[in-house]
Amino acid sequence: MPAWDLLLTNAHIATMQGNHGAYGVIENGALGVADGKITWVGPESELPSRDDCKTLSLNGRWVTPALIDCHTHLVFGGNRAEEFEQRLTGISYQEIAKGGGGILSTVTATRNTSPDELIKSAAVRLQSLAREGVATVEIKSGYGLDVENELKMLRVARSLSGSSGISIRTSFLGAHAVPPEYEGNADSYIEMLCKEALPQAVGEGLVDAVDAYCENIAFSTDQIARLFEAAQSLNLPVKLHADQLSDSGGAKLAASFQALSADHLEYTSKEGVTALADAGSVAVLLPGAFLTLGETHLPPVDIFREKNVPIAIATDCNPGTSPVCSLRAAMNLATALFRLTPEECLAGVTREAARALGLLHDRGTLETGKRADVAVWNIGHPRELSYWLGLNELAQLFVGGHEVLRR
Ligand code: NIG
Ligand code: FE
Repeated sequence: MPAWDLLLTNAHIATMQGNHGAYGVIENGALGVADGKITWVGPESELPSRDDCKTLSLNGRWVTPALIDCHTHLVFGGNRAEEFEQRLTGISYQEIAKGGGGILSTVTATRNTSPDELIKSAAVRLQSLAREGVATVEIKSGYGLDVENELKMLRVARSLSGSSGISIRTSFLGAHAVPPEYEGNADSYIEMLCKEALPQAVGEGLVDAVDAYCENIAFSTDQIARLFEAAQSLNLPVKLHADQLSDSGGAKLAASFQALSADHLEYTSKEGVTALADAGSVAVLLPGAFLTLGETHLPPVDIFREKNVPIAIATDCNPGTSPVCSLRAAMNLATALFRLTPEECLAGVTREAARALGLLHDRGTLETGKRADVAVWNIGHPRELSYWLGLNELAQLFVGGHEVLRR
């Protein structure tokens, strides 16, 4: 007789297992949890007889994997509402960046903000994600751009996990912009990242992956290749901000390093998509940045589909190009702007987002052996999770089988 710590019954379950039909639906299902893992999932009529255990009837509510936001810049000082107003008068993101604004203004603000203050402001944004069912959040550095401040950001990111119950994955994004101290000398900055900042951050256990910004206003493919070689020698997976504003060969570069993901991809060529497909990298689409920048060049969604490149969706929460603290809103935007289906959107914030973080073995679908990260919803069908904009139907959120939120 199975012994469970928790049994959820009377639920409709969208397991999001890829090979189980639309949404992997199990109607009138049950889900058993032991030691924080899913140990049974299936139709309630097939539930084995059981010892007494804590049973929770969900009264016909829907259950999905807890959501995963696989691309955020959640930790930063200040905000860029002023730049937002400037852009509305017609000044472009690139012009602002070239004038020393943009990312660099957030760098100044982040350097001048204490860890405690960074924790406080990021925790507000993290709560906004969590109350909509997000249990895993990736957070990048990239607004410190020196050893001290990159490590400060990563420590802040790591510490957010303890206070919230949410699982945090960190990415080292030292190659986000050339800092003022290295102006005109991007090569030396990359060398400093490879020899000092990255090894120190890794030595402190602060890095789960290495990210970079490949763009003519940021770093070249050659410079990023050097950083990625350093990452590989430290056994770290890589990912890349690629082809966001122009086709700069980012997707191909990412693929050549077997990147977990390539992100943005508005200007990626068919060749770039083919490279991602061959490498098994995930395409992470970021509709919040597309919307905020007034972008009109669409990512090549049909070619992703044709080549079976997995598609994830994330908020890209950041103060410049995507002041978006709602993954549900990103799902809705992905339907409206990129014509993704509601099922692709839900897969994009569960299964494919887990894949993009290298965590698919542990979460992202509801199947036995995975962590019991479960969201319970007051909805009539999972397509509603991409349909409503601004309505929060989350009823409960479990992380590792523990309830962390109830509404
Ligand atoms: O993902 N593309 C570069 N990085 C961020 C923007 C960061 C910023 O503007 O502060 C992005 O869009
Ligand atoms: Fe980003």
